[in-house]
Amino acid sequence: MKVLLLGSGGREHALAWKMIQSPELEKLYVAPGNAGTSEIAENIAIKPTDFKTIAGFIAEKNIDMVVVGPEDPLVAGVRDYLENDERLTGLMIIGPGKAGAILEGSKDFAKEFMFRHHIPTAAYLTVTPDSIEKGISFLRTLRPPYVLKADGLAAGKGVLILNDLSEAEQELQSMLNGKFGKASNQVVIEEFLQGIEISVFALTDGQDYKILGSAKDYKRIGEGDTGLNTGGMGAVSPVPFADTAFNKKVEDKIIRPTIEGLQKDGISYKGFLFFGLMNCNGEPWVIEYNVRMGDPETEVVIPRIQSDILELFKATAQGKLAKADFTMDKRFCTTVMLVSKGYPEDYEKGKEIQIGNIQDSIVFHAGTQKTENRVVTNGGRVIAVSSYGNTMQEALTLSYENLEKIDFNGKTFRKDIGKDLMQ
Ligand code: AMP
Ligand code: GLY
Repeated sequence: MKVLLLGSGGREHALAWKMIQSPELEKLYVAPGNAGTSEIAENIAIKPTDFKTIAGFIAEKNIDMVVVGPEDPLVAGVRDYLENDERLTGLMIIGPGKAGAILEGSKDFAKEFMFRHHIPTAAYLTVTPDSIEKGISFLRTLRPPYVLKADGLAAGKGVLILNDLSEAEQELQSMLNGKFGKASNQVVIEEFLQGIEISVFALTDGQDYKILGSAKDYKRIGEGDTGLNTGGMGAVSPVPFADTAFNKKVEDKIIRPTIEGLQKDGISYKGFLFFGLMNCNGEPWVIEYNVRMGDPETEVVIPRIQSDILELFKATAQGKLAKADFTMDKRFCTTVMLVSKGYPEDYEKGKEIQIGNIQDSIVFHAGTQKTENRVVTNGGRVIAVSSYGNTMQEALTLSYENLEKIDFNGKTFRKDIGKDLMQ
């Protein structure tokens, strides 16, 4: 099978790492990829949102399958575009079309969807510049803190949580005035959910699904979950508090109703589903849907899949997921992200990276690039160091030991990944 993977982060290196283990793989291209993917696949300098060039490349190289990593091309309709190209009949695509990707592309759509299908989620009101007064009245019925969300994609930055009512009213006004550009033309005001966050991942062919496990990521830059939000500083899988009873609730109240909801709404969906949840006293509530894998969650979820991922993808594309082989490693997997100094604010790129001999962890590149024969930093999040362990502590110890063998100017990381889960 010839496969094209779209994206360039740690998520894509982890997906590529898993796909090249499949005997079905004949050739893997990654567009645009990073230094890590260039070592195990062929990087192609095409942007994941340049659909015309992607379609031409697929036709020219006779590619059998496209796997979409990030959300932007999905929300912009990469599946619909490729499906409408008559040169590409029979192409298998992992990732939903526009009609399904809107679960991530519009928070208002996602909230309506959940209410329509009785999926537990916080109370909300969607506000436009014309209904700001209603928004302010709604805010006044809520208890602090106040949650304001830009409706559209805002690169993970469109959520504000405010303790003060008058500040929330002002921020609502400024969001509707374009604080997050077009993404905040509409704002979702939400009731605050008190609890512990956890993410659960599934792969679905639109009828059946495989649950890929749970993960927790660490979004803040600083130890003890302090400071600015980042793309994610580390992750662990599975999450210890997600016991059998909790997982069953997630499946019965959230995963199955979501997939049935998509069917009832006539939305064909083939790809990953990422459930961002809050565990409130043992009950799962949905904070958000994403229509792709998480990053860095992929770097701990994908290594735990023991089955052939291309077999799973093929079954997904063909609607035969129910019969596909699926086993997961019982061990824990953890990852610690090495980031550039200054991230998530301004940081420098182009720092040379030295990687020593690492045997018992997996090194997933994120923001890296090959220039001549050097590997240099090319983003805020640079490298994720993933490890297995029979306990979470064992896995974390390996990640922390091995990240000492990687060096670049300004290397920064959190020392407390997983700590909160071990108390
Ligand atoms: P989102 O982009 O929807 O994932 O929101 C970003 C972060 O805001 C989440 O990871 C949560 O930590 C927090 N958050 C979002 N919605 C709520 C809510 N209703 N209650 C509490 N925290 C929330
Ligand atoms: N790590 C969170 C995300 O990928 O959205």
